[in-house]
Parts: sequence; C-alpha cells; structure tokens
Amino acid sequence: MTAYLNGQFLPLCEAKISPLDRGFLFGDGGYEVIPVYSRHPFRLAEHLRRLQATLDGLRIVNPHGDEQWRTIILRIIEQAEFADQAVYIQVTRGADIRRDHAFPQGVKPTVFLFTAPLVGPTRAQRDVGVAAITAADIRWERCDLKSVAMVGNVLTRQLAVDAGCTETIMLRDGLLTEGSATNVFCVKNGIILCPPKDHRILPGITYDVVLELAARHGAPVAVRPVAEAELRSADELWITSSTKEVLAITTLDGKPVGQGAQAGKPGPVTRQMYAWYAAFRDEVMRVATV
Ligand code: PDD
Repeated sequence: MTAYLNGQFLPLCEAKISPLDRGFLFGDGGYEVIPVYSRHPFRLAEHLRRLQATLDGLRIVNPHGDEQWRTIILRIIEQAEFADQAVYIQVTRGADIRRDHAFPQGVKPTVFLFTAPLVGPTRAQRDVGVAAITAADIRWERCDLKSVAMVGNVLTRQLAVDAGCTETIMLRDGLLTEGSATNVFCVKNGIILCPPKDHRILPGITYDVVLELAARHGAPVAVRPVAEAELRSADELWITSSTKEVLAITTLDGKPVGQGAQAGKPGPVTRQMYAWYAAFRDEVMRVATV
C-alpha cells in the first residue's frame, strides 16, 4: 500500500516517523478522512477547508496550499489497487529534539497520508439498522477541531464495541452532541432534528450533505440543541460520516427506536435520506473532474 510522508511517496510499511513527533507525544495534530468513489474524492474542497480550520485552531501553519494537497491526494488515489477508498491525512506540529509542551521553534509539520479500501456498512446493516448505546461526552471543549488527540472518542467507541453495538451516542449537559465517530440526526413527527455546528461537535462533511439534501427536497429541518429526552423519544435516528454515509440506528440502549409497527426499523424519513444520499453521491461522481 502506498503512503506519503513529508514529500515522499513510499510503501506504507517503509514510512517511519520520529518518536519525538508531537503527534505521537502529545496528540498535537489534525487529520481528515476523505471518501473516494471510483477514484474520485468526494467533497474534496470541503475536506480541505475543514483541514485548514483544524490547523488554524491548532495554530499549525498549513504546509500546503489546496493545489498541492490535491496533487498529493490524487497521486495516492491513483496508486491504490482499489477504486473505492478512504484517504487519511494527518498533519502534526512536527518532531522536536526534546519534549516540551510549548510549541517548538523552527520545526516543520509532519505530513502523512495513506489510503485504505472504503469499507461502508453492509447492505443488511443499512436495511435493518444498527444498535447504539448512549454515554456521557467526556471529551474536551473543542470538538469542532478534527484533532488526532482522540482518546475520548476511542474510549467512548469501545463502550459500544463492548456492548455489541455499532456506535456510542454522546450526551453533554443533558444535550445530544454526536457519535464517537459520527454525527447524529433524530426525526420527530416528520421533522429532522440535529444539533448546531458549534464547539461541541465536529462539523461533519456528511452532516452538511444531509442538510443540503433536506433543503433541496423540501424536508422540514430544525437545527437546534437536542435534549436527551428528544433523542430517547425520537421516531427515527440515523448517524452520518464519510465512511458510514447515512446509517439508521434502530436500537438505542437496548430499546427499539420509534413506536408502533415502525419501531426498531429504519423509518420512512431515514429510507428517503438513504435514497437521496445515494442518488446525490452517484450524480456528483458521474460529473466529477477530480
Ligand atoms: N470520523 N464526528 C466525529 C467525532 C467524527 O470523528 C466524524 C468522522 C464525524 C463525521 O464527519 P464526516 O461526515 O466529515 O466524516 C463526526 C471519521 C470518518 C474518522 O475519524 O474516521
């Protein structure tokens, strides 16, 4: 598998970084995951914009302009043996010659990329939906930055795995924030509800696509804080991410989501969103030039 490290394309197994890299010592860096369909990156400009916002928030000077990023990313994509990919980009503050919390002087950021096959949910998972649990959001106050310091997300995600579930949905101060690696949407009485993009959640690229699709098709949406009680009494729930796209949550903390005949199954709004999302992705990819 091909990787890119600090200006060089090389086999992934040959990519080596210093143990004094600040990404390793402090989690001092940012990252992106870009989905690629048939060798076309999806929403590349938006991912690069979010990378810039993360680096600005971390006070790391972006080592590349958008055109340089594009060239590197397209080359990584082209060299892969598989067509549908998840391109991973990581930029850290770099490797110093000593360990000190404060920013080192004269150190160049470390830039690392690799690509892996894009593994989305199975057809069966999408048709039936998956189970989630809830947990307290134990992360820091800048969840809008896509920082590599992810131990809060890691511990939270493991809770789901330990419970035999797919995702952990987090709550902070009685409000829904997001999943350990996803954004979360609720549907109540036909209205799509989701928390606003503030410091408590990652501004998901897929989140934006979902809101654009809802607007395009005239589906009612309320972007506002979502109370725990609203999450628990939702008619439908779904999660979004670049690798999961849109995926129904049909069981929450062991209870079926929704009421009546619909309980525990992906609801009509979720299924509609599946269809809109798939059609949009295919349309974008048909006309993609990069
Ligand atoms: N995770 N919230 C969190 C905490 C995330 O880590 C992610 C994505 C999202 C969804 O963002 P997007 O739609 O831009 O993928 C929300 C990626 C996929 C990851 O860490 O692998």
